[in-house]
Amino acid sequence: MNLSATVVLALTFVVVCSAHLTSFAVPRALRPIWRGATVRKRPHPHKVPSQQPQHRFRQPSAQGLMYTRLRASAKDVKLTNYYDNFYFGPITIGTPGKRFNVTFDTRSSAMWVPSILCPDCYNYHRYDNASSSTYKANGKAFTVAYDLGQVEGFWSQDSVTVAGFQVQDQIFGEAVVESDLFKDMTNDGILGLGIAQGNELSVFDNMVKQELLPAPVFSFYLNRFASNDRTSVLTLGGTNPDYYTGNFTFVDLALPNSWQFKIDRIQLSNRARVLNRNGHQAIADSSTSLIIGPLEEVHKLNTMLGGVPLLGHPKMFLLDCSKVDRLPDVEFIVNGQKLSLSSKDYVLKFPGKRRTLGLSSLVGKRWHEGETPVWYLGFTFMRTFYTQFDKGNNRIGFAKANH
Ligand SMILES: *[C@@H]1O[C@H](CO)[C@@H](O)[C@H](O)[C@H]1NC(C)=O
Ligand SMILES: *[C@@H]1O[C@H](CO)[C@@H](O)[C@H](O)[C@H]1NC(C)=O
Ligand SMILES: *[C@@H]1O[C@H](CO)[C@@H](O)[C@H](O)[C@H]1NC(C)=O
Repeated sequence: MNLSATVVLALTFVVVCSAHLTSFAVPRALRPIWRGATVRKRPHPHKVPSQQPQHRFRQPSAQGLMYTRLRASAKDVKLTNYYDNFYFGPITIGTPGKRFNVTFDTRSSAMWVPSILCPDCYNYHRYDNASSSTYKANGKAFTVAYDLGQVEGFWSQDSVTVAGFQVQDQIFGEAVVESDLFKDMTNDGILGLGIAQGNELSVFDNMVKQELLPAPVFSFYLNRFASNDRTSVLTLGGTNPDYYTGNFTFVDLALPNSWQFKIDRIQLSNRARVLNRNGHQAIADSSTSLIIGPLEEVHKLNTMLGGVPLLGHPKMFLLDCSKVDRLPDVEFIVNGQKLSLSSKDYVLKFPGKRRTLGLSSLVGKRWHEGETPVWYLGFTFMRTFYTQFDKGNNRIGFAKANH
């Protein structure tokens, strides 16, 4: 999970829009949304995915008889878009189930929520192991570090239900100490949809292992805040054809335990010049707001777009708004197919003192010696492309999102 872009963006808001805002306070008109109303603007008759047939599988019983069990079809979790900064959706933990709102993060695999033992977790809900009959103690210490913050606490075990799929005995963290960043978030915790590296299985791994899903796949449709888009949706167990058009472009995973894949080239639609002949490593990242790439490459790309580094934030770039509509597409060549972002997708517009300012969604990050530089394709990318994460075939698929 990378929350740096979220925060940098918030800072930028202050810089760019200082004529209007003195701090990154939630604008008054939007507060009802922040308080919990849905961000959906127009009603949309939500269809249950029809593409996934209820398929049967056969399995020998203890007596050697054959029986069939009906597996569930794919199911949706509606996500709330918090000002394009992050998305969250409901889960329940324990028996009786207690509700939490969590961010679903494809870059990490651990799950945690604030513990009742955390005195200054100001989130909405805290987990109390005394009030769940399915709780099992573990008690080992955990720490999860993200780019801009970390949480500490102890592991516990309980049932976790997402979209009606109930995982038994899920290991998750009860957070006792949280970085300020998490205290200020309007959700309760993080549920990693990454592939676990150690023995502890992620919620998704367990859904697969416990044979809850019709297929070991999940998919995201992410909407744009302040638009007429439909509510964002995470589909577990398949894809939801209501939310994309055309065919998927598939690419194999580059590593066995990460949603990482190769981009052959990144280029602009009006130029032959290529950023890096060896291609790029990338992760489709459901909790990063922008697109984050190695600083040198991002600098080159933004310069090719006529951008200049933002004063005080040299990893971010301003673009000339008067030219925005004439800017070329940024093309990501994945498995030989072109995935294009138009300037509408990658330029963020802000009202400035005298004129509208354009901020590039392509943000730089410095990598340490020895680390493999990776592009985090955050919401800017995943809003444009409906993304399916397919563990069964070890691949990721992108199709044009149907907003
Ligand atoms: C989760 O967030 C939604 C949208 O803001 C809200 O309606 C709901 O009450 C929240 N649920 C919990 C358990 O806080
Ligand atoms: C909750 O977890 C903590 C830490 O493992 C433990 O000390 C406490 O006894 C647990 N509560 C119950 C009711 O088991
Ligand atoms: C999708 O794939 C099918 C089969 O390969 C092909 O016939 C069809 O033209 C493709 N559709 C689009 C929109 O590319």
